[in-house]
Amino acid sequence: MTETLARPDFPTEIVTEGRARLLVPKLRAFVRSPSDYAPSKAPVFYNPVMELNRDIAVLALQAYQRRINHEISVCEPLAGCGIRGVRFAVDVQGVRKVVMNDINEKAVQTALYNVHMNQVGKQVTVKNKDANLLLSSHGAPHKRFDAIDLDPFGSPVPYIDSAVRALRNHGLLALTATDMAPLCGVHPKACIRKYGGKPLRTEYCHELAVRLIAGCLTTVAAKHEIGLNIVFSHSAEHYVRLYATIEYGAKMADESLRNMGYMLHCFKCFHRESLAGLSPIGHSGKCSECDSKLSIGGPLWLGKILDESFCRLMEEETKQKQLGNKKKIEKILALAKNEADAPIGYYVIDRLCDALNLPVPSVKSVVETLRKEGFQACLTIFNPKGIRSNASAASVKGLVEEIVKTGR
Ligand SMILES: C[S@@+](CC[C@H](N)C(=O)[O-])C[C@H]1O[C@@H](n2cnc3c(N)ncnc32)[C@H](O)[C@@H]1O
Ligand SMILES: [Zn+2]
Repeated sequence: MTETLARPDFPTEIVTEGRARLLVPKLRAFVRSPSDYAPSKAPVFYNPVMELNRDIAVLALQAYQRRINHEISVCEPLAGCGIRGVRFAVDVQGVRKVVMNDINEKAVQTALYNVHMNQVGKQVTVKNKDANLLLSSHGAPHKRFDAIDLDPFGSPVPYIDSAVRALRNHGLLALTATDMAPLCGVHPKACIRKYGGKPLRTEYCHELAVRLIAGCLTTVAAKHEIGLNIVFSHSAEHYVRLYATIEYGAKMADESLRNMGYMLHCFKCFHRESLAGLSPIGHSGKCSECDSKLSIGGPLWLGKILDESFCRLMEEETKQKQLGNKKKIEKILALAKNEADAPIGYYVIDRLCDALNLPVPSVKSVVETLRKEGFQACLTIFNPKGIRSNASAASVKGLVEEIVKTGR
């Protein structure tokens, strides 16, 4: 026991996140040149920039626990230094058990140290296995988890199947994806290979990234006769994150598959439209606004990617929690609950103005003008310059021109 709790033999420091104190690699000690990405140079993974991601993970898990109203078991199969899993035990109420795991022995040693330091040894166990092996060993009904958080390097796809099988009925699956180049259409072939859907390099590619992952999750879950609901999602520059609850039953799987479809985008005039169904056949492929050829993305998930009531639950929990990013999260959740029912594919005002060769008006003024004209319009958590609206691209462009001209 004393051996496993030995302090790691590489440079470390203590940080605080939420109510937890954590021993983490001292990143400065591992950077040799300015271009080095410090978190992956250290012997154990730790990324301070992901604090917002972890704060939101704590809130989503708490909201989920409140919703199902019983004690929960949680698995974090790719745990790194254990910061996320320890926070689940320390910061979330109603957590009966946390199983953390990492293939890296030094990560396991650090995670064990953090479990000990935060005195959560009764709740938390740390394993040293391949993540898929661990998840598969929890596939039997009485061994499944209430919640699983997949936080890999790059794509979560290699772990989705075993994670779905290791989740209880009504369980919560959280996923991070950092492979933004495939998901945002820079490497479309890699996206098709991994996620089974074609990406589009549009201004709303972060939303499409969530929809491509959700689509992949839907088809994987459907094979096991499991359906899903996306309760929350968000993005940052280098990652997207998605929270889905699952529901057993062939009927539920069929219902989820009905949310699959395609996104059609005109790179000439910004027109976009969605097309439900498992095949885009039947559409002319022409832009209804300018007659250009439309680019097709998908198949992907066209259903909801934010659930208003879940956002409200998270918002309530924010008040009770100690979080480094509280103010930022309050803003995110206030916007998220408003955009839950808004149209797919936001407009990005900078991009429109670039194309129109116009100075950029404030997003607020564009939203207000759209509303005055009788359109639905709201901001989005996916882009600070983004606007969701049922107005056509031509109407949005026309109104932006007018705002700039009249200085409204
Ligand atoms: C992005 S890091 C996890 C970060 C952590 N969840 C956090 O919030 O700070 C991904 C981790 O997955 C581990 N890993 C990679 N492949 C694995 C596998 N096949 N099985 C288990 N762990 C694996 C790596 O060692 C690394 O620690
Ligand atoms: Zn067009």
